[in-house]
Amino acid sequence: MIKVENLYSGYGKIRVLFGVSIEVPENSITAIIGPNGAGKTTLLNSIYGLADIYSGSIKLFGRDITGLESHQVTALGVGYVPQLMNVFSSLTVYENLRLAAINLSKEEFRKRLEEVFELFPVLREFLNRRAGTLSGGERRMLAIALALMKNPKVLLLDEITTDLAPIMVKRVLEKVVELKKRGITILLVEQYAHRALEIADKVYVLVSGRIKYGGSPEELKGKDLTALYFAS
Ligand SMILES: Nc1ncnc2c1ncn2[C@@H]1O[C@H](COP(=O)(O)OP(=O)(O)O)[C@@H](O)[C@H]1O
Ligand SMILES: [Mg+2]
Repeated sequence: MIKVENLYSGYGKIRVLFGVSIEVPENSITAIIGPNGAGKTTLLNSIYGLADIYSGSIKLFGRDITGLESHQVTALGVGYVPQLMNVFSSLTVYENLRLAAINLSKEEFRKRLEEVFELFPVLREFLNRRAGTLSGGERRMLAIALALMKNPKVLLLDEITTDLAPIMVKRVLEKVVELKKRGITILLVEQYAHRALEIADKVYVLVSGRIKYGGSPEELKGKDLTALYFAS
């Protein structure tokens, strides 16, 4: 569904990825793990038109999307939940959801809203609360809901569990599994690597802008990942 081949990308003169190739199968959860600064966010940014691509290619359903703008990638069915600044804190939950669905008609908006409430019932209760007053976990759920308003086929999720209490980490990752069951393909960047391995169908380890491992999560379970990250 997503195929990245021999990708070199970064930001202007700052080169970050060096020959990255990954394949995200349809209706799977594919996890990217790796240390801070490895280039995980840059990989998602590259797919979503937010980084500079020097060479290599990115395909979505076999179609070349290398270098497209974010709005074009969105229109092709890709949703992105960024690591930071993913909700408008001073707006209410309802206003956030309405803004995310700005292109939809009133009816379509209501329909999407019902689907999102089914997945995240808590958002219905908090519709008139400012997003900035939600707990960390609720805010992540809102951020995912915002991406879902556009009815994506693929979701790019960047560290949606970072800084959450363990119980919330578990709950948010359960929602990710639920999204897969609803037919959405997931590319997930996770800091809690072992938790990611539990729900992933496939995993890539990214270190210093290069893929160090790609394959089944089973082989990495119970292993010392830090040692793997820093082994030469
Ligand atoms: N917008 C940007 N402009 C310039 N350099 C950036 C930008 N974002 C990230 N970087 C650099 O790219 C490298 C990889 O960062 P990032 O992709 O955020 O890694 P990760 O998500 O794995 O922690 C880091 O050295 C970081 O400083
Ligand atoms: Mg990151």
